[in-house]
Amino acid sequence: MIQAMVNDETIAAILRQLRQPIVLVGLMGAGKTRIGTSLAKALDLSFTDSDTEIERAAGCSIADYFDRFGEAAFRDGEARVIRRLIDGTPRIIATGGGAVLNPETRAILKNESIAIWLQADIGTLVERTAKSNRRPLLKSGDPHEILTRLSEARAPLYDEASTIKVKSHSGSPTHTVRRALAAIAAHLESKQT
Ligand code: S3P
Repeated sequence: MIQAMVNDETIAAILRQLRQPIVLVGLMGAGKTRIGTSLAKALDLSFTDSDTEIERAAGCSIADYFDRFGEAAFRDGEARVIRRLIDGTPRIIATGGGAVLNPETRAILKNESIAIWLQADIGTLVERTAKSNRRPLLKSGDPHEILTRLSEARAPLYDEASTIKVKSHSGSPTHTVRRALAAIAAHLESKQT
């Protein structure tokens, strides 16, 4: 459906010029998985979620992983998964919100991918993340406070790692996907000239 609503020319131009993976970064609840899945459909590329890859490899949920091995071990695994996935193949990758904490990951995202920073206001992030209890970092206090703190701490890191910023708080996911596609096309075009 998304495909029908965006200009076929835009899709074709992206696919002609794309030589790297497209990676979604941003806070929990920004819509990385939702928008990533739709982008993959629109571009007919594969979609991978780094959290899901970690869960598959570990045989347990992210929450259990944090409980059993701790956050530091999770961050190591996350960096390894992202390193493996960014291999020059055009594909769509959604990362966990804390992936940018690793400086090497930030450099890989910046230099070897088109990283899109999905941005949403705190109220939207709280609303979206409240729909599930699978995020260990939001269990230790008030989600609004935690997300506000993470947003302040991580904004410079998302900024450093990303190539494109896309707002994901207003409108339907379809609109966000269209904005992302337009921004990817513009970025690729600007690299040609
Ligand atoms: C985290 C975000 C989560 C997951 C883990 C830690 C974070 O992913 O990787 O719970 O540090 O922001 P989502 O951003 O997909 O929720």
